[in-house]
Amino acid sequence: MTTTSAAPDRRHTVHAAEAPDGPWWRHAVIYQVYPRSFADSNGDGIGDLPGITARLPHLAELGVDALWLSPFYVSPQADAGYDVADYRDVDPVFGTLSDLDALLDAAHRLGLRVIVDLVPNHTSDQHVWFAAARAAAPGSPERGRYLFREGRGEHGELPPNNWVSMFGGPAWTRVVEADGRPGQWYLHLFDSSQPDLDWSNPQVRDEFEDVLRFWLDRGVDGFRVDVAHGLVKADGLPDWDGTAAMIDGSDPNVHPGPMFDQEGVHEIYRSWRTVLDSYPGDRAMVAEAWVEPVERLARYVRSDEMHQAFNFAFLSAGWDPVALRTVIDRSFAANDAVGAPTTWVMSNHDVVRHASRLGLTDPTHRPNGIGEGDEQPDAELGLRRARAISLLVLALPGSAYLYQGEELGLPEHTALPDELRQDPAYFRTRGAERGRDGCRVPLPWEPGAPAFGFSPTGASWLPQPADWGAFTVEAQRGVDGSTYETYRRALALRREHAMATADLTWRGDDPQVLTLSVGDVLVVANMGDVPVTLPAEAKVLLSSAADMVGSQVPPATTVWARVG
Ligand code: NOJ
Ligand code: CA
Repeated sequence: MTTTSAAPDRRHTVHAAEAPDGPWWRHAVIYQVYPRSFADSNGDGIGDLPGITARLPHLAELGVDALWLSPFYVSPQADAGYDVADYRDVDPVFGTLSDLDALLDAAHRLGLRVIVDLVPNHTSDQHVWFAAARAAAPGSPERGRYLFREGRGEHGELPPNNWVSMFGGPAWTRVVEADGRPGQWYLHLFDSSQPDLDWSNPQVRDEFEDVLRFWLDRGVDGFRVDVAHGLVKADGLPDWDGTAAMIDGSDPNVHPGPMFDQEGVHEIYRSWRTVLDSYPGDRAMVAEAWVEPVERLARYVRSDEMHQAFNFAFLSAGWDPVALRTVIDRSFAANDAVGAPTTWVMSNHDVVRHASRLGLTDPTHRPNGIGEGDEQPDAELGLRRARAISLLVLALPGSAYLYQGEELGLPEHTALPDELRQDPAYFRTRGAERGRDGCRVPLPWEPGAPAFGFSPTGASWLPQPADWGAFTVEAQRGVDGSTYETYRRALALRREHAMATADLTWRGDDPQVLTLSVGDVLVVANMGDVPVTLPAEAKVLLSSAADMVGSQVPPATTVWARVG
């Protein structure tokens, strides 16, 4: 049996404390609401803004500081709203602009900030600009807002370059010109219904600054910026033989390709920062940028650019204490160097929920969805590890992102019938990738209620597994040791002990155990196979598992304790 030591000579401080009264985004816990799956008010089976507003007290009770709303804009929903047809209005499926105003109001009254999603890399093909571009001639100003190019080959029958879409298949689609003949091609890094904008065009820049102002004027507290590393492409759109995957499996020393992380993106964020800074209050932007290594990602959060960037290297480290410690150290070094807070995230609407991911034989593996016939996660082990890793996430100084349902310990739906899948990645890879539907299943609120309380009629755009009653908020509220109450307690302690702005010092040197002090809280995350013993003077504040015996921290358990 190992003994975790708190001996001062093993101490190694990697992050210094900061003033607790800095701007909210430096230490906020931000809860991601995926509108179509949070709460449905009108019974059509799709979550909506009034549904969110009605359930805001849940988020206040949980104790988060802010919410991030995935897109609710007018959209044909080809990519669940990440295909925006009108950036200044709400899609009728989600409600109206006044519903959004009511949501903002209610959230602010509860002391919750609200950030909204901004999708600047591409529009929907139903956007007026794209309709105009299609109808206009090659070389026209209308086409100049997108990336239209002539094809290669004798008759232009080959795509302009060899890029592939992030959802599989070619990244180019050919249009039919006004004379009925096949004509130019347009670039889409994602689905063919999501044409990429040309960010070298000043009209595109002006339009998005105006969109920022539109929402800032309405009172949003900031933006989550979709594909923030993709807006600018390398000059000449050169061929590239690498794999344009999200960072999983990529070599961090290799540039992600001519479509990502180009120098030109930073200038855009500098001008957006000026827009945000011209508004009262602390408005913030967070970059969704799948950029490695973390030093490179930190360039997005220099003091005149974005405020935060999602730490996907952390999410991708899985259940690997050495990798986690390395990414924690490097994240602090890189972000501290530019004066930015670090973010911590384990789940979102694009990845397999961590309660399932961590139950796979290889818990660092990040498949794009899980379906029937695939390896099924060990649900018990996955949940146990998820709770342990979530207590690590919530202990770390900086800002943390939670994905709706993780506070319930919700697993991925790993047996969705393929005919119900909606993610374009499933179709574009011809089923080779199951896609992201399994992490987007509507939330369960009350056991025994229709659709577990998600919708009054029981309709649900994706089916919920029959055994989700035990995961509902109602089944867990007030139950000591439930995942929900564990998150709640963690959030309360984090606040009480000002952990988000505290210093972080590593203690102990067992590679299987992450032992750290965060301010006056000792955190022991036992990722090994044998129990570890807490220092004699430690008083347990919170444990991720119910089976602690005395001062023994069992495997796959994180404990927060008070020393002295
Ligand atoms: C990242 C979003 O999180 C994802 O859901 C979307 O499909 C792509 N960007 C394209 O917008
Ligand atoms: Ca609805």
